[in-house]
Amino acid sequence: MFPHGRFITLEGIDGAGKSTHVAWLRDAIARRGHQVVVSREPGGTPLGEKLRELLLHQDMRPATEALLMFAARREHLEEVIWPALEAGHWVLCDRFSDASFAYQGGGRGLAAERLHHLEEWVHGGFQPDLTLLFDLPPEVGQARLQAHRGPLDRFEQERADFHERVRAAYLARAAADPKRLRVIDGTRDIPGIRAEIDRLLEAL
Ligand SMILES: Nc1ncnc2c1ncn2[C@@H]1O[C@H](COP(=O)(O)OP(=O)(O)O)[C@@H](O)[C@H]1O
Ligand SMILES: [Mg+2]
Repeated sequence: MFPHGRFITLEGIDGAGKSTHVAWLRDAIARRGHQVVVSREPGGTPLGEKLRELLLHQDMRPATEALLMFAARREHLEEVIWPALEAGHWVLCDRFSDASFAYQGGGRGLAAERLHHLEEWVHGGFQPDLTLLFDLPPEVGQARLQAHRGPLDRFEQERADFHERVRAAYLARAAADPKRLRVIDGTRDIPGIRAEIDRLLEAL
């Protein structure tokens, strides 16, 4: 659909390394001569950022949470992601629909079938060209965040078993589409992970 730009998403539980690698990845792509747009979900647009505030801090039912995530995503696609790809830019996004399958599906227990319907409605056959899934045990992610963390959001406040289910749902999603979703061992050191990402970029 978009012959020039590439869409790369970063996924994984909190503390897995998404934010750490996104800036480096932006520079690595720019060095290859491409314009890069960096964004995040939920969010990425003025309306999306308002929905993000609600999603992270306002208690709501799981179905409401899933619907708002996909509402924000549709806005993001139409306002930011699709126009950028059409202009030939590369787009890097901290979380996308795989996160809905992991958090609202695995974590909250919504049926995957429901999420497939929403995904189909909101972005049809469109998917990232590459998804980097940073995988590590939740207790390692939590320990890494401990040093810097401010007040916890609704997802971070969940118990360890929630994060275990999120992790398992991410891995199941990766197993179903191993060509797009590349699992990266998030417990490795940062230079080792960068080298691995660099090889994946070269292939793109
Ligand atoms: N491979 C790694 N080894 C050691 N520490 C890491 C590694 N990757 C990230 N960190 C540290 O872990 C913390 C959380 O990483 P971050 O990228 O913010 O996670 P996320 O965005 O996935 O929640 C940061 O303080 C970061 O410096
Ligand atoms: Mg982050």
